[in-house]
Amino acid sequence: MPSLFEPLELGTLELPNRIVMAPLTRSRAGREAVPNDLMATYYAQRASAGLIISEATGISREGLGWPDAPGLWNNAQVEGWKVVTGAVHKAGGRIVAQLWHMGRLVHPDLGRGQPISSSATTAPDFARTYEGKKPYVEAHAASKSEIRRIIGDYVCAARKAIAAGFDGVQIHGANGYLVDQFLRDSANFRTDEYGGSIENRLRFMSEVLEAVGDAIGMERVGIRFSPNIYSQGVEDSDPIPLFAALAARLEELKVPWIELREAHRPTSAGAIPTAPVSPAMRPLYSGKILLNSDYDGPSARERMAEGIADGISFGRPFISNPDLVHRVAVGAPLSPGDESTFYSGDAAGYVDYPPLDEAAAA
Ligand SMILES: Cc1cc2nc3c(=O)[nH]c(=O)nc-3n(C[C@H](O)[C@H](O)[C@H](O)COP(=O)(O)O)c2cc1C
Repeated sequence: MPSLFEPLELGTLELPNRIVMAPLTRSRAGREAVPNDLMATYYAQRASAGLIISEATGISREGLGWPDAPGLWNNAQVEGWKVVTGAVHKAGGRIVAQLWHMGRLVHPDLGRGQPISSSATTAPDFARTYEGKKPYVEAHAASKSEIRRIIGDYVCAARKAIAAGFDGVQIHGANGYLVDQFLRDSANFRTDEYGGSIENRLRFMSEVLEAVGDAIGMERVGIRFSPNIYSQGVEDSDPIPLFAALAARLEELKVPWIELREAHRPTSAGAIPTAPVSPAMRPLYSGKILLNSDYDGPSARERMAEGIADGISFGRPFISNPDLVHRVAVGAPLSPGDESTFYSGDAAGYVDYPPLDEAAAA
């Protein structure tokens, strides 16, 4: 079995190691959703990751409902991201953009009018807005022409990602956002060719992948899922057949890599995992599989040894350990992160976690 420190090819990407930085929303881009120098510093500090997957990035104003998260629908955002990708490349790293449409999880205060989803549903719990938490509002079911328009928005954002210097994109298919709202039977109640059977529920994801692959080359495209947890009101009554069929579809589409947030214990948001789907997906999919959730160095090595994962992605450990790769290599302890600054908007708790050498000298 390959070790975490062997190179890995993900389509056109050549990773020097298999420790990947998972996408992490950090809310530092301001109301205009434009990346800035502070974000460039943060990502460059983490450039020793085999690959950085950017924080979720809105493909359109309609699709972005998280305060101060970045976007990729206008030229100012492209210019802002160029600074980030340039800093990461200069530091020797690689970075892909996670492309995000939040669907029914966009509150009208942030998006554009009534939110849109696969079906007319309302997400549970509360949306973050600039005026604090507010209940979600009911989404309307996307018409077929709206589906075509949204797929066009993914394509525009993917092209802009390449123009901004990203090494590729990852479609956000996880955590109860729009792609997941089409995939799962707890959120998709459509009776047309986008709902009902597994084949139909895979259609929106497939069309997004095909269109983005046609635009920038499928060898530069990956996708993320969260198959075995309830997330923001979205889950599936029978995830294993769904994700087995999905694996076969990704094989047909020649998607080179996927990332699974496949929890093996209750998540930070309290979701209790069901059975993992990666054992059912592995024989049907010859692309690379990154596994995520709750790993540290030793447990990541154990997971790699089981032969399903080609790499491991780490989320929270990268927040507080910019030199995570080095720490895993030497078996150094990991610093804990401060949750109160995860989304707090400024430099504190963002770019001030020291690497090991500085921490030891302090
Ligand atoms: C602060 C924070 C922000 C996150 N933002 C995103 C995101 O933008 N996109 C995404 O797919 N997952 C996001 N996640 C989920 C993480 O990528 C990851 O799946 C989760 O933290 C579990 O992995 P870990 O145990 O290594 O942290 C976020 C998690 C945290 C804690």
